[in-house]
Amino acid sequence: MSRLVVVSNRVSDPRKSAGAGGLAVALGEALSANGGLWFGWSGTVVEGGTPGEGEMHTHHSGNVTLTTVDLCREDHDSYYLGYSNGVLWPVFHYRLDLADFDAGYIGGYRRVNQLMARKLMPLLKPDDIIWVHDYHLIPMAAELRAMGCKNRIGFFLHIPLPPPLILAAVPQHEWLIRSLFAYDLLGFQAQSDVEHFSSYVGKEVGAEALDKHQFRAFGRKVQAQAFPIGIDVDEFAALTHAKEGRDMYERMKKEFSRRRLLLGVERLDYSKGLPQRVRSFRELLKNYPENIRSATLIQIASPSREALDTYAGLRQELESLCGAINGDYGELDWMPVRYIHRNVSRKRLPGLYRVADVALVTPLRDGMNLVAKEFIAAQDPADPGVLVLSRFAGAAEQLKEALLVNPYDVHGTAESIQLALQMPLIERQRRHQQLLERIRSQDVHWWRKAFLTALAECGQD
Ligand code: G6P
Repeated sequence: MSRLVVVSNRVSDPRKSAGAGGLAVALGEALSANGGLWFGWSGTVVEGGTPGEGEMHTHHSGNVTLTTVDLCREDHDSYYLGYSNGVLWPVFHYRLDLADFDAGYIGGYRRVNQLMARKLMPLLKPDDIIWVHDYHLIPMAAELRAMGCKNRIGFFLHIPLPPPLILAAVPQHEWLIRSLFAYDLLGFQAQSDVEHFSSYVGKEVGAEALDKHQFRAFGRKVQAQAFPIGIDVDEFAALTHAKEGRDMYERMKKEFSRRRLLLGVERLDYSKGLPQRVRSFRELLKNYPENIRSATLIQIASPSREALDTYAGLRQELESLCGAINGDYGELDWMPVRYIHRNVSRKRLPGLYRVADVALVTPLRDGMNLVAKEFIAAQDPADPGVLVLSRFAGAAEQLKEALLVNPYDVHGTAESIQLALQMPLIERQRRHQQLLERIRSQDVHWWRKAFLTALAECGQD
């Protein structure tokens, strides 16, 4: 069996990943299966270090080797904050208005990808299978190939790929897409992402489509397919019964015995549609006053990328909206919105999901959205909550029995929330049953196996 090498911006120890994100668990499992190497940024920023240089650290966790590289301040700010999260993140989430196309960032992005490739190259064995993750590392394979790497290399994009005309706004779009042809397999979250890739390479670089999934350009052949990422359903359901989950469930169940709980959980990110969601909730209180003193929105928005102005501005907007609703509708013994701008332990979340009557997962754009899947897994099948899901989340391609909404339509979303609050038990059970089957049939284990099998089977000819 070939060794698996996972490359991603963030690296986490598989043995310490209990309760961590599903992705960390899934990749940890894939690596532990045959022994493997997980390679990426250490999370350390060295003040005043030299651009393009970084100390490497290695430690072992069971049969998995974790190797990470420090970044100097200048590299971190141009690669991570500047190009990855100031250009690619907003554009790939259709927010050209928020992109900062400062010409200086691309240099840092290339430099860090080259640094990573240079550090990884000597660690590779000839038959290693390499799996690169996400938008931070798009040129990784091209850099490795330039150093003579002949290994099979796959790439999975965790965020959406926008349509050609949006992508074309990135000044270096041709270079980015050309870099993708250095891979053997490209995995996307949704069918729509594959379609965008296919139409981009057809129109902009005149790639030859060998079939629906295979494209030839720049002297290479690449296969592009959708592999919707999933969760470990049983593991997540079990967390609702573990101590932290159960304690949370019991405490909140008691508190909400005579009230209705609406729940939102995400990083504080402009792609998540938080201001629109809070406005929809306000509309719900205004149009259906029977919810006053009853429906309560718990919004957990964990701190994220705070060094970027776009994120700081969003925080202010959200806090002022929540404050205004509480001021207008709150009573001495009831507040409509509980807004939490902190991390909540992942072990407690399943209990909270299980108590919620309605989950509001209403991003303006999202690659997949695993909170939607976790919410389904955490429900009591006898009395399940209702998922209100944005049609613009990748998950909407699969989770058709959710109440699908257009998050930009504040009024329509409020109507759907009211429908969710009123939904009869029998319909809630029917929808939940079908949703559960969907998240089970394409869970995280399926995702990993499907991607790695396709990668093992495809190749240049
Ligand atoms: C998204 C991205 C991930 C990223 C995560 C957290 O899910 O797809 O690659 O790790 O956000 O963001 P951060 O910037 O903290 O890594």
